[in-house]
Amino acid sequence: MDDKSDAHLRVKPVPSSFDQPTASSADEPDLPRHVAIIMDGNGRWAKQRGRPRPVGHQAGFTATRDIVEASARRGIEALTLFAFSSENWRRPETEVGLLMDLFMRGLNSEVGKLSDNNVRISFIGERAAFKSNLQEEMLRAEQLTADNTGLRLAVAVNYGGRWDIVNAARTLAVDVQEGRLSVDQIDADTFGARISLANVPDPDLFIRTGGEKRISNYLMWHLAYTELYFTDVFWPDFSDEELGRALEFFKGRQRRFGRTGEQISGA
Ligand code: IPE
Ligand code: IPE
Ligand code: MG
Repeated sequence: MDDKSDAHLRVKPVPSSFDQPTASSADEPDLPRHVAIIMDGNGRWAKQRGRPRPVGHQAGFTATRDIVEASARRGIEALTLFAFSSENWRRPETEVGLLMDLFMRGLNSEVGKLSDNNVRISFIGERAAFKSNLQEEMLRAEQLTADNTGLRLAVAVNYGGRWDIVNAARTLAVDVQEGRLSVDQIDADTFGARISLANVPDPDLFIRTGGEKRISNYLMWHLAYTELYFTDVFWPDFSDEELGRALEFFKGRQRRFGRTGEQISGA
């Protein structure tokens, strides 16, 4: 392929139907039910190739599509992807504009296929900051896929973990103020019921691509007991094979949740 052409910017055709899941976390206990990913490294991927950052974002979009499909095929129940953080507004206006554009075009081009493949889509984050047409598209995607029973795909946009926690606290405060809840009833369950992804089990596996070992204000509440996997691979290069490596890492973990190893292994 001529690397100087705009071929990177074109979306490659994909089959309209995913392969059926080959497993499910119900019959494969070593498979995480919920995977949460920070898709990082698009800009550096492009830079490494002497290309502008938008080329990296376009390649990242293609990788996202492939990983959604791979996750569904592998029988993962829930996948949460960090697409745009509440801090990403600090980027140059042109980059923010491009990301919004890519997001809008992605929604338009992918939602039908995702719905046909039984994927249920939702968005987490503060939506009010987005243009109204984008907000409408998000709602339309959620409504269109609401009754689907396959992969639960959550896309975090203008999302911040602290925003999420503050928002839950505020909702709790209103409930107390209006007499729906007493202060004594505030605990991790009542709090957790008011935070994003309340109906989804907490992530079992967290993946961050791009080499950085930080949470960057992602799911601060939800990651309390999540297994953390970091890889230097840039997001556009994160393939099904790389996902397989992360799943292998997960298989090797002993999740103790505060207990001793002997209690868990029964030794
Ligand atoms: C992740 O890649 C995409 C978004 C944050 C939207 P980056 O754009 O952060 O890529 P790097 O970290 O600069 O390489
Ligand atoms: C985190 O990546 C946000 C997303 C992937 C959407 P960043 O690239 O924004 O994170 P920092 O700024 O390096 O921590
Ligand atoms: Mg980054």
